[in-house]
Amino acid sequence: MKEKLEALKAEALAKLQEVSDPQVLNDLRVKYLGKKGELTEVLRGMGSLSAEERPVIGQVANIVRGAIEEIIGTKQEVFQQQETQNRLQAEKVDVTLPGRRLPQGGIHPLSRVVQGIEDIFIGMGYRVAEGPEVETDYYNFEALNLPKNHPARDMQDSFYLTEDLLMRTQTSPVQIRTMQAMKGEAPVKIICPGKVFRRDDDDATHSFQFHQIEGLVIGRNIRMSDLKGTLQQFVQEMFGPSTGIRLRPSFFPFTEPSVEVDVSCFKCGGEGCRLCKQSGWLEILGAGMVHPNVLRMGGYDPEEFSGFAFGMGVERIAMLKYGIDDIRHFYNNDMSFVKQFKGL
Ligand code: PHE
Repeated sequence: MKEKLEALKAEALAKLQEVSDPQVLNDLRVKYLGKKGELTEVLRGMGSLSAEERPVIGQVANIVRGAIEEIIGTKQEVFQQQETQNRLQAEKVDVTLPGRRLPQGGIHPLSRVVQGIEDIFIGMGYRVAEGPEVETDYYNFEALNLPKNHPARDMQDSFYLTEDLLMRTQTSPVQIRTMQAMKGEAPVKIICPGKVFRRDDDDATHSFQFHQIEGLVIGRNIRMSDLKGTLQQFVQEMFGPSTGIRLRPSFFPFTEPSVEVDVSCFKCGGEGCRLCKQSGWLEILGAGMVHPNVLRMGGYDPEEFSGFAFGMGVERIAMLKYGIDDIRHFYNNDMSFVKQFKGL
C-alpha cells in the first residue's frame, strides 16, 4: 500500500508540475483529492491493514495529500497572478494621452435674457404660462378690448392666416387664456415668454418676428402702487441695485390707466450717454392696470378683482444689456456672434 501511495504521489506531482491551464488543474485536483479521487480510493483499503501498519500508512497518506495540495496551491496562485497581469494589460489606460476637445456650447443671448427674467419673477411667486403662436382674432384682439375696426389694431400690423386666424402680435392673449383657465380663482400671477409676429420691414431695430415677456397679476385690491413696486424690484434685480424707473402716461386698449416704463440708463447711471441717447433713460416696458372689460372677458368681476399687466421686448433688453447694435444678429446663426456669449 505504501508503494501504491508513493506511485500515486509521483504520478500526481509529475502531472501537476506540467499543468499550464487552470481548468486542467482543477480536473486533476478532483481526480486525486476528490471524494471519488484516487487517494480516497487507496485509503479506503486501510480497513484491511493491521493495527501497527495503519498509523504508518496513515502518515504516508497525509504526506502524499499534503504534497499534492501544496503544488495545487502554488499553481493556483501562479494562475491567479497571471490572470491579474493579463487584465491589467488589457485594461491599461494611457493617462498621458491628450484629451479630445469637445466644442463648448453656450446659451443664446435671447434665451439667457428670458431665463434671467423668468428667474426673477419666479422668485416673486409667479409661474410661467405659455400659449399658441397661431392665435384667433378673439384672443389676440377682441378679448383684449380691441373690437374689429378699432383704430388701435393698426399699432400691430398682423400676419393673417385666415380671416379669423393670425400669428399672434403680442403675448397678451395668454392673459385671457390663463384667466379663463383659472375660472375666477385668485390670485393669478403669471409670466408668459414667447415669440410674436408683426408685419414690419426688417432693419437694425425691427424684425417681423421677435420675443416678448408678459406679466399678469389679478387679485383683490391690486393697485397701481403694486405694479410700480413690482417693476422697481424687477429692474433692480435685472440691471443693478441703483436702477430706477419712471412712468409716463401711455395708451394700450387692454389697460387703463396705461404707462410706458423707462429705466434709468444702467450704462451711465442716468448721466446721459450714447446708449440712452443722452436722456439718462431707456424705454423698456409697457404696462397698466387691467381694463375692466378684459377682466370681465377673462371671467373676473371688475367690482371684486383688479390687476396689472406689463409687457417687454426681449430683443430690446438683450441689445441694451449686451451692447448689440443690430437685431438681425440674433437670428443669423453666425457662430462668431453666438460664440461671444458662451460661458457668460
Ligand atoms: N402687448 C403690449 C404690446 O405689445 C405690451 C403690453 C403688455 C402693454 C401688457 C401693457 C400690458 O405693445
